[in-house]
Amino acid sequence: MGEGEPGLRDSFSSKFGVIAAAAGSAIGLGNIWRFPYVAGQNGGAVFLIIYLLFIAAIGIPVMMSEFIIGRSAQRNPVGAFKRIAPGKKWYFIGLLGVVSAFIILAFYTVVAGWTLEYLIQSVKWMATSGRLGFSQMDNAALKEFFTGHYQGFIDGKWRPILWFVVMMFFTGYIVISGVKNGIEKYAKILMPVLFLLLIILVVRSVTLEGAGEGLLFLFRPDFSQLVQAPVRIIIEALGQAFFSLSIGMGTLITYGSYIQKKENLAGTAVNVAAADTFIAVVAGMAIFPAVFAFGIDPGEGPELVYITLPAIFQRMPGGLIWAFMFFLLLCFAALTSTISVLEVIVAYFSEQLSMTRRNAAILAMVSVGFLGILCALSGKVFGIFNASPDLLLPLGGFFIVLFIGWFLPKDKSRQELSSGGTYRTKYYRLFIFLVKFVAPLAIAFLFILGVYSRLITLFPGAG
Ligand code: PHE
Repeated sequence: MGEGEPGLRDSFSSKFGVIAAAAGSAIGLGNIWRFPYVAGQNGGAVFLIIYLLFIAAIGIPVMMSEFIIGRSAQRNPVGAFKRIAPGKKWYFIGLLGVVSAFIILAFYTVVAGWTLEYLIQSVKWMATSGRLGFSQMDNAALKEFFTGHYQGFIDGKWRPILWFVVMMFFTGYIVISGVKNGIEKYAKILMPVLFLLLIILVVRSVTLEGAGEGLLFLFRPDFSQLVQAPVRIIIEALGQAFFSLSIGMGTLITYGSYIQKKENLAGTAVNVAAADTFIAVVAGMAIFPAVFAFGIDPGEGPELVYITLPAIFQRMPGGLIWAFMFFLLLCFAALTSTISVLEVIVAYFSEQLSMTRRNAAILAMVSVGFLGILCALSGKVFGIFNASPDLLLPLGGFFIVLFIGWFLPKDKSRQELSSGGTYRTKYYRLFIFLVKFVAPLAIAFLFILGVYSRLITLFPGAG
């Protein structure tokens, strides 16, 4: 199975499997790497509040919409729209999603590669020093291990490319082995373990001297920040909400198509969004206390976590072992996300262009490979790719909610949400209100604002 014969689609085997796979897609570098640094650049607690609002009012409705489309159509994002809206142009949403998948997979896999570098480094240090922690290392060695090594690694270019290729290879391997045997199997075990490790990190981080300030930064809003840069903060909160939930590009249309008819879609969406948000907040609670305790700048940017985490491990007995386990699991968390992005492209290639799963995966990996190497070589390309989800995903989400709110007949969406009458849908009117009015209006408004503000920063004279 897994070769994509029509009518014989692969599917997730259990309720926990569905949640684990969708949460596996949602939880990843977006929570542990991107959330802390974007929140750090955008005022901390203020950002968090707006972010939470977007998750509840826009994120969950978009996620439910994607599940409805995917499960009712039983197709990849392009095929799904062609099937439920034949002869209409809605399938362009699916194509937009495939384009987003290429861009996201490229830079995301590069960052996932950084994780591998840290993993290997912690093993190397254990082997060369013969110790399991940092305690016996002198300061020069520690500094080299952290920032110095990090810069040298990024500037060195070939190692980031090597790790990128390795991550790409693992991703492809799992995707080729299919939904149940690949994606679900790994997600089920690894997600809970990652969570445990994060909690241990939080405990260490909040007990550092000077940690309190970090918690205040994350939880006590300073609204003057919002006044200073309202557009940027709000747009990046929306973009981060979409990115973190894996919505707006058809990932969850694709996964929705593997969900069995008996599962509860709304419940799944709420559980996944809650788990995802929880992990992001916990990651923030691990990072910010340490950021302040060590005098790191919270607005440091994409390196923030990769500088802060080792500094925390340094203060833990057996720190190298913790570092090893953490980066290993982060790498798996990244993998359960990269496979969900690659799956979008592979499902599209295999179902719409009648390729085998295997060939589809190879073609996708090679083409994403070129883009990813560009990202690893050029900080500028990386920056553009990394910023693009903030606009691309809300744009996709806009059309997805329009489709559910205004096009798809209501009995159809209700039927899907209730699994043919099995589940109660008391929330249905609220859901329709959100997808018909709230989400599309809010996204459209913010999208225009976002495009406008980016044009201004690109061409400062014109504003
Ligand atoms: N949600 C993933 C994360 O937070 C990234 C992702 C984005 C995955 C879009 C799929 C689609 O790490």
